[in-house]
Amino acid sequence: MKSIRWPFILLMATWGFFKGGPLGFGCAPLQEKEPQNPFAGQSVAANEGQAIFRSQCAMCHGPEGQGGLRGPSLTSARLTQGISDVSLFRVITRGIPGTPMPASDLEPERTWKVITYLRSLTGHLTTVPLGSPLTGKEVFFQKIQCSQCHMVNGRGGRLGPDLSRIGSARSPSYLERKIREPNKLGKDMTVGLWWELGQPLLYQTVTLLTREGRYVTGSLRNEDTFSIQLMDSKEELHFFLKKDLQKVIHESKSLMPGYDEQILSERDLQDLLAYLSSLRGPNQTQELTPQHYEKTGINPL
Ligand code: HEC
Ligand code: HEC
Repeated sequence: MKSIRWPFILLMATWGFFKGGPLGFGCAPLQEKEPQNPFAGQSVAANEGQAIFRSQCAMCHGPEGQGGLRGPSLTSARLTQGISDVSLFRVITRGIPGTPMPASDLEPERTWKVITYLRSLTGHLTTVPLGSPLTGKEVFFQKIQCSQCHMVNGRGGRLGPDLSRIGSARSPSYLERKIREPNKLGKDMTVGLWWELGQPLLYQTVTLLTREGRYVTGSLRNEDTFSIQLMDSKEELHFFLKKDLQKVIHESKSLMPGYDEQILSERDLQDLLAYLSSLRGPNQTQELTPQHYEKTGINPL
């Protein structure tokens, strides 16, 4: 009898641990002490966590958790050290309502492994650009008009990706390369949004050859097994069923023009980089605080 009961009690205890702890949706905690990550610091679990992360989280947070266009970097010191395991567990299992961060349906064990992986990430040591974000904002919206193709916090064009979070997604050196020579990107770079057969795409440019022999080039908006949608340079959307197409060509060049020093001076570039680096999504514009604006005496809005 005893030998049957013990495993059962153990099972219940484990269940209570998860239910009363991180998974306890509004339940009173069954124990005082916060549950700990059972895999903390274990490198095998971190590797497993990385594999899970790549398949479930990387499309938004980037393959190394460095951030992507749809999700912030998870390598900040606040996340790697400042937050408790339990808070991380809650964020991952419940998601963040009202944001694209979904509730995951990973089992507790796998969630802990992902957390073990996240803990193993260290922050990027990125240099902060020297320019002024406020002047950079003018460069972006007025002087050079990147906003013709890019939206920031709801303002601007749609041909290129929304850059509202670009500061947490990309390092200044990446941004500089993309602006100066948009077609000369390393393999480590992707547009962060589009994946083809598990491979990230470098550019969003797609050319289609219709069955009638017409070519249509534009920026990829959506693609699945049966259909494809793109936007042309006039911001018009085109929708095709793949069975009506002869060819789908993912181009290896950008629709974005390069900005050399003739068009964009080094000074303007530094300001622009400072501005872009400050963009962390609508809730995370840490750099652009009211105090910051008080200091510079310019009203951002
Ligand atoms: C569809 C895109 C998407 C997916 C998939 C996704 N996330 Fe997120 N995640 C986000 C966004 C967007 C935020 C920021 C929400 C906000 O505005 O606060 C976020 C926030 C977070 C945060 C909190 C960051 C902070 O600074 O407080 C963590 C931790 C996190 N995600 C982990 C994960 C993990 C682990 C996975 C995979 C199991 C995952 N996310 C899957 C989009 C995503
Ligand atoms: C004619 C449209 C157009 C203009 C103008 C334009 N871009 Fe782009 N940009 C794009 C497109 C399209 C992409 C998507 C990636 C690709 O296909 O290269 C892109 C990609 C980017 C990316 C990369 C995003 C990522 O995560 O990899 C950055 C950064 C960027 N643009 C910044 C700028 C800045 C800054 C300016 C102004 C100096 C600018 N762009 C002007 C069309 C444009």
